Amino acid sequence: MQSVKEQYEAYPYPERDPEEEKTRLITGSPSLPQEIDHFLFGGARDWSEPLRILVAGGGTGDGLIQLATLLSRYGKPFEATYLDLSEASRRVAEARAAVRGLEGIRFLTASLMEAPGLGPFDYIDCCGVLHHLPEPEAGFAALRAALAPGGGMGFMVYAPYGRSGVYPLQAAFGTLLGHLPPGERVAAARRVLARLPAGHPFKANPNLNDHESGDAGFYDLLLHSQDRAYEVPALLEVLEATGWALSGFTVPALYDPSRLAGDLAGDLAGGLDEGEAMALAERLLGTIRTHTGYAVPKEAARRPATGRNRALVPHLKGVQAAQLARAVALGRGINVGSDGLSEALELPRAAAPLLAGVDGRRSLAQIAAQAGADPVGFGALWAKVEARLAPWGMLLYSSVLR
Ligand SMILES: C[S@@+](CC[C@H](N)C(=O)[O-])C[C@H]1O[C@@H](n2cnc3c(N)ncnc32)[C@H](O)[C@@H]1O
Repeated sequence: MQSVKEQYEAYPYPERDPEEEKTRLITGSPSLPQEIDHFLFGGARDWSEPLRILVAGGGTGDGLIQLATLLSRYGKPFEATYLDLSEASRRVAEARAAVRGLEGIRFLTASLMEAPGLGPFDYIDCCGVLHHLPEPEAGFAALRAALAPGGGMGFMVYAPYGRSGVYPLQAAFGTLLGHLPPGERVAAARRVLARLPAGHPFKANPNLNDHESGDAGFYDLLLHSQDRAYEVPALLEVLEATGWALSGFTVPALYDPSRLAGDLAGDLAGGLDEGEAMALAERLLGTIRTHTGYAVPKEAARRPATGRNRALVPHLKGVQAAQLARAVALGRGINVGSDGLSEALELPRAAAPLLAGVDGRRSLAQIAAQAGADPVGFGALWAKVEARLAPWGMLLYSSVLR
């Protein structure tokens, strides 16, 4: 753990300038409030109750700042605990929170193994951290022990195939440069990298660009002293072994083998359980670098929200409702994609007025009434909208703006 701490003291990651909080908010998964609600609380959390948040391995603050900023903006109460081994990272996260005038956050410098003594928490963010622990399984278990009943976790862990070429290089640089101080290691590794042949699996991998984003990114990708990746089966296994169950991945399309294998996957479907099907998709696609998703206690396992409940409030992610409604009304598809997988997404023209009604505040029932849709027709149409958008993580249900 000491060498990991040293790395993040020398190179807080990701590199962030607190002054930039004045001009932009970095958003992403996990930890968008709408996503938390959708994956962990059936889309119907009571947001008048304070959300007790733990950001475990909070780094320079991306997840914390996003969540605290949006909940403050929405006027929803929360208490957040930021936890990280690195004091240098904490200083950046604190400065970002100060620039934004965020309140209700306690900053702690400690290991996430201490989390059970600090909780309980309704929501835990652990993004890009567990795969750096000496015993990741103990980390998953510690976070599970820190969870309040009914709560859940948003996580990101590395995936092996999209990171092809990284691990032999990390090992080689460890042998070659491990004795040097961090700054010298980066300079020397850059020189060696430049000499590697064009066909080297790392150089040939177009999915990775962190090493081009400055020294902290370079170190994190190629010089890490402790880094492992999880294939889907290994991830499901560690979740199960530590009392968690997967609610869902944020982009389910990546884990659907029929996207690449078509009918061949369908023919197999009866013979594969959900985990095996997701593993097959990961192996076929070969480009997944990270698994991002949400987990719940296995004894209270639940799945993401669906529009079968007409009281839920839909949100669109990654596209403006008006823009999508216009394209759909004109019969135009929109291009969507992730990790090299893409689709020209088409929706029935009749769905345009429904999409135009999505504002994050109206429920499905209200949207249907406003569009003058009869309940049966609405149900069939919305099922098509959900079937096209949800696989790309573009349709979420949440009461957070109500
Ligand atoms: C790759 S960074 C990710 C930071 C942040 N979660 C994000 O997504 O931007 C990993 C962070 O985990 C922290 N970390 C590693 N092991 C830890 C542990 N056992 N307890 C707490 N933090 C840890 C590191 O100090 C570092 O700041």
